[in-house]
Amino acid sequence: MNGQEAESWVSFHPPGGSACYRVIMWVDGAVSAQRLSAWRRARMESVERMQEAGMRGARGALAAAQQEMQILNRDIEAEAFAFFTRAQDVRASGLLAALRADAGVLGCRLGKSAAEVWLELQDETGVDVHVQSWQRAASGAAWSADVIVERTTAEDAAAWQRANGVAAEELIAETEDVPFRHTTVLLREATDALQAAEGKVIVDVTLGGGGHSERLLRAGATVWGIDRDPTARAAARRRLAGYGERLQVLNGNFRELGKLMHERGVEAVDGVLADLGVSSPQLDTAERGFSFLAEGPLDMRMDPALPRSAADIVNEADEAELADILWQYGEEHAARAIARRIVQQRTRGRIATTTQLANTICSALPRRGRQHPATRSFQALRIAVNDELGALDELLVAGFSLLKSGGRMAIITFHSLEDRKVKRFFERVTKPEIDRPEWAQPRPNPEYAARSVTRKPITPGEAELAVNPRSRSAKLRVIEKI
Ligand SMILES: C[S@@+](CC[C@H](N)C(=O)[O-])C[C@H]1O[C@@H](n2cnc3c(N)ncnc32)[C@H](O)[C@@H]1O
Repeated sequence: MNGQEAESWVSFHPPGGSACYRVIMWVDGAVSAQRLSAWRRARMESVERMQEAGMRGARGALAAAQQEMQILNRDIEAEAFAFFTRAQDVRASGLLAALRADAGVLGCRLGKSAAEVWLELQDETGVDVHVQSWQRAASGAAWSADVIVERTTAEDAAAWQRANGVAAEELIAETEDVPFRHTTVLLREATDALQAAEGKVIVDVTLGGGGHSERLLRAGATVWGIDRDPTARAAARRRLAGYGERLQVLNGNFRELGKLMHERGVEAVDGVLADLGVSSPQLDTAERGFSFLAEGPLDMRMDPALPRSAADIVNEADEAELADILWQYGEEHAARAIARRIVQQRTRGRIATTTQLANTICSALPRRGRQHPATRSFQALRIAVNDELGALDELLVAGFSLLKSGGRMAIITFHSLEDRKVKRFFERVTKPEIDRPEWAQPRPNPEYAARSVTRKPITPGEAELAVNPRSRSAKLRVIEKI
């Protein structure tokens, strides 16, 4: 963008104190030149109407023109964002560095060909000066001269931050249109158990593709959806966009549920739902490195920002630690033999891919029966990388204490290690009395605070198993706080 073009669009600066702005800018080609010039013309006319109404002091006409301008902006922005998946790369890293270095930037959403930036200005620098410096930093991009700048309020900016509370790097992934195919497990059973209805607030701590959340929203509830995986959050946001403010999507680990909610002023909820484990897209995307069936980097991090990948553990943990992980988290009987073979193998070079690890395991443990020899070891590594069991322990305590009286917690588990933890925790809080052999008689349980809604765990029926074999190990347990 040259200086002349910049002047032609805007030079805002706050009239005093601080002011918030929402800026949309995109690279040329994201919207056709004809469309852009039609938009520019319409916008010009709208500005003229606004000026005229402003001079006449005609408040009604001014408000109508302002609304018209907002609609014009929203339309073109929607078109630019729809283009994200097809457009060229925006040289995002330079842009991100500039956005991060700009103290006024509250947050941003980057796509392949456009950026939405929220800015708070305390000083007299015009918005255009900031925009030009960001665009200069992404020098490889042919920025369109047209930029949308909207004055907003601090409250709107805070609401946007709450809904999009994610790091800028992730947001690049968030706007990419990756198809997310996950068949929700025990959909009806889990959501019915939570008794969703208008006015109720439910936290879905494993948002995934939003399958459970969608049914909760349809029943009228307000849903906080948490996921540590940016791809899942993006998919859920797309799928559930129609529910507006009733859905709030959060980036976070459910082990910090209490803190995540507290920071947003939510002290008690009517329901907590967890559908543990991984989503199908996590398993099926070879590059995420979860599956021994597809060649990919040995990664397995649900949250790409985690410091330690599966490859780091496999190549750096000592033999005893490896054996421990395989035994504890995979209940793998051949844990020691596999750990020994991994340590031997890595002296020849780093074990970097899923298939290298799967082959190493197979060489230590010949195939017996229908299960692939690497199944348990891969499960164990995934649990270790993501500290799934530690997070579950903390979720159970935090989720239960967040419940209102009469609120329900529903947890779906996929293997015995998880289910055992849920079962024990639920027993701990639902038993009115504790009995020990050394006591003459049972004593009141100080932790008693809930009743069981499911006497036995609910499992998928024949129909569900037929269409979704991955649901076969699912177990749903539900309790209600007294
Ligand atoms: C089985 S999927 C949920 C699918 C979802 N119920 C649906 O119907 O689309 C589990 C999701 O939980 C997320 N997850 C697992 N552990 C998590 C944790 N500790 N904190 C936040 N999200 C987690 C995963 O990233 C994954 O997207």
